[in-house]
Amino acid sequence: MHHNSKLPNASTSIFAVMSALAHKHNAINLSQGFPNFKSDPKLIDLVSKAMNLGYNQYAPMPGSLVLREAIARKFDGLYNSSYNPETEITITAGATQGIYAIISAFVRQDDEVIIFRPAYDCYDPTITLNGGKTISIQLEAPLYKMDWQEVRSKVSQKTKMIIINTPQNPSGTVFSEEDMLALQRLTEGTDIIVLSDEVYEHIIFDNEKHQSVCLFSDLKSRSFITASFGKTFHNTGWKMGYCCAPKALMAEYRKVHQFNVFCVNHPIQIALAEYLDEPSHYMELSQFYQDKRDLFLNLIEGSRFKFRSSKGTYFQVLDYSNISKEGDVDFANKLTIDHGLASIPLSVFNDNGLDNNVLRFCFAKTDETLKQATDILQKI
Ligand SMILES: Cc1ncc(COP(=O)(O)O)c(C=O)c1O
Repeated sequence: MHHNSKLPNASTSIFAVMSALAHKHNAINLSQGFPNFKSDPKLIDLVSKAMNLGYNQYAPMPGSLVLREAIARKFDGLYNSSYNPETEITITAGATQGIYAIISAFVRQDDEVIIFRPAYDCYDPTITLNGGKTISIQLEAPLYKMDWQEVRSKVSQKTKMIIINTPQNPSGTVFSEEDMLALQRLTEGTDIIVLSDEVYEHIIFDNEKHQSVCLFSDLKSRSFITASFGKTFHNTGWKMGYCCAPKALMAEYRKVHQFNVFCVNHPIQIALAEYLDEPSHYMELSQFYQDKRDLFLNLIEGSRFKFRSSKGTYFQVLDYSNISKEGDVDFANKLTIDHGLASIPLSVFNDNGLDNNVLRFCFAKTDETLKQATDILQKI
């Protein structure tokens, strides 16, 4: 049987490849972005309580109302921004499913979607599957700074959507208020939808303020926000998240969502509703990860890697150009196989495989793991 692949360029994700390589060579795994410490036992108890109480059948299609109400309260408290829990918030199977259904709901054949590289890997294939065209704007190492003039020059009659991600995976950069205002000016008066991937909203450092699209009224009126409980509560394997948008946009989203998953894990939603109502559960996360970033960077002080400290996310990029000029995929393989430390080469997030000799390391790890990893980096 012959078939034309709908994703001819897609291969096994680099995260799976590097994690498998780490496993094979018994290497410390700072490649894939997941914590190697436990989720709060209180939250796990709440999940088991919900199961014992009988929340084991389908949840309502948009999600359990108690959880949507808790999310709405969080938006009110944190950003003074209101979303109607009935009509403007939907619970998703991780941010990935939300992103998939948002793009599927709006992008048609030949529509253009602007993304910024280095970019998280699910955007481009999802655009392609829906017949859209990815318009990549490459941000340059080491600052990965936005050039809004360039963005303006790439906007056309066909631009359907712009996808942003702040704090940004993999670069660890964040958008400033000026960036958000520039995006708002650029999209004002257009029908462009903004997909704002804010999965790292609670992991932001050095007293920077997270610039959510919901803080800018015109932007908010055209935007989806996607969020991930896995990132916030150390349980990426639960695959739980949510998205929110103004009513008319959310109504279109739900048409797709109901045939994509219909609804997501019910007992975890009930547990999260209660857990989310204690703000310290997410307000203390930035300091927790800032301490890990600082430990990681202090321990590689004096090594031959060059870096600018991450401003958000649980990733730190390191430039190895003082050590070697070989390609980043080869260097990452060598680091894993010969030295026992796995990372992610940044070229896989770039357009045309642009390689700036930079690797991404995940510091969502116990202090002990970080010490072992930095011992290796010091010897390279
Ligand atoms: C920028 C970004 N968006 C979305 C996701 C996916 O989140 P989830 O695991 O909740 O699907 C990730 C996970 O690494 C990410 O880094």
